Amino acid sequence: MTLQLDTLFINANLATMNLDIDAPYGAVKDGAIGVRDGRIVWLGKMADLPENICQKKNTWDCQGDWVTPGLVDCHTHLVFGGNRAQEFEQRLNGVSYADIAKAGGGILSTVKATRALGADDLYQDTSTRLIDFLYQGVTTIEVKSGYGLDIPTEIKMLEVARKLTEDHVRVCTTFLGAHALPPEYKDRPEDYIDLVCNEMIPKIAELGLADAVDGFCENIAFSPAQIKRVFKAAKKYGLPVKLHAEQLSNQGGAKLAAEFSALSADHLEYIDEDGVKSMADAGMVAVLLPGAFYTLKETQKPPIDLFRKHGVPMALATDCNPGSSPITSPLIILNMACILFGFTPEEALAGMTREGAKALGLGDIIGTLEIGKSADLAIWAIEHPAELSYWVGDIANVDRFFKGVSYE
Ligand code: NIG
Ligand code: FE
Repeated sequence: MTLQLDTLFINANLATMNLDIDAPYGAVKDGAIGVRDGRIVWLGKMADLPENICQKKNTWDCQGDWVTPGLVDCHTHLVFGGNRAQEFEQRLNGVSYADIAKAGGGILSTVKATRALGADDLYQDTSTRLIDFLYQGVTTIEVKSGYGLDIPTEIKMLEVARKLTEDHVRVCTTFLGAHALPPEYKDRPEDYIDLVCNEMIPKIAELGLADAVDGFCENIAFSPAQIKRVFKAAKKYGLPVKLHAEQLSNQGGAKLAAEFSALSADHLEYIDEDGVKSMADAGMVAVLLPGAFYTLKETQKPPIDLFRKHGVPMALATDCNPGSSPITSPLIILNMACILFGFTPEEALAGMTREGAKALGLGDIIGTLEIGKSADLAIWAIEHPAELSYWVGDIANVDRFFKGVSYE
């Protein structure tokens, strides 16, 4: 039988991250990967490569480099105007993140800057930021709205996010209308939630601009009851949900998200065991964001031993945003997860591949190197996959192989 391929990767060490392969990192040493129509159709040891291979395109000799699944950054706020360096300075002078938000700064200052930018400029700024992610092996990125808080700007943000697929990356978009209360609805949160539920979600669903709906459940943002209304509206339009939960206090957000079979709850520094159990029962992913923990100089860590104990998958993401995580390096996040949260380097890589994919509901398509999955690969000139978490700075030497346009 002849193996029909477009591309063949040879002499590669594969960190498949496939749990069915009983080796650290699901490793297959001295391996090869065959790709046809953007999918992995053969994977195994060089020694087992079939003799009859018919190739239309090229052979990529990895010369002993490691191949991992393309990185999946499952939580970002990549589309935004301006920056908040001055608030960074204020925080270092002792003003808290919550106090800046209460005084009308924080998210709302980015809302102002994002509303003011035209779509083309917003795309240019975002696309420039995206380059850092691509140079570090990212092949899938989730991008949230939530700095518009009015219909035209939320749509503008999501359209910019969708357009990023032209930059050769798989993009998942998330509508985050319930991120903060816009100034025109000051002291009228229920009215704003009405707008989110009755106008924004239907419009965005009609335009097909969002793959999921998110909210910020916190005492400086929206209550569990308000988020519940948003989730009900999302479900009505068939959109999966996820939640910024337990970042600064325990509001029971993760439990609420579990009631709606959410894909993930994110941040989770203040979650308790009850919350973790409800996530486990609902099959949710815990998305941990060490960049925000680091930037806000938090001291309460997410309970990673409880996630391990209850078998809740732990994903990692940059949370790239101008306030709590002005970070465009996914690899620094792997290092932070190890140093700040006690991840092992293998858990960290899984967090930004296999578990990140699950957090986006794409676990059947990407996240591990497996026959049948999309050939979203990152090829690294390293001697061991732990190097991805170990170096702080630019380890460079990564090639991406990405054939997808948007996810199937
Ligand atoms: O994930 N927690 C809420 N949202 C963002 C921060 C947004 C901002 O400060 O601009 C986060 O940390
Ligand atoms: Fe976030």
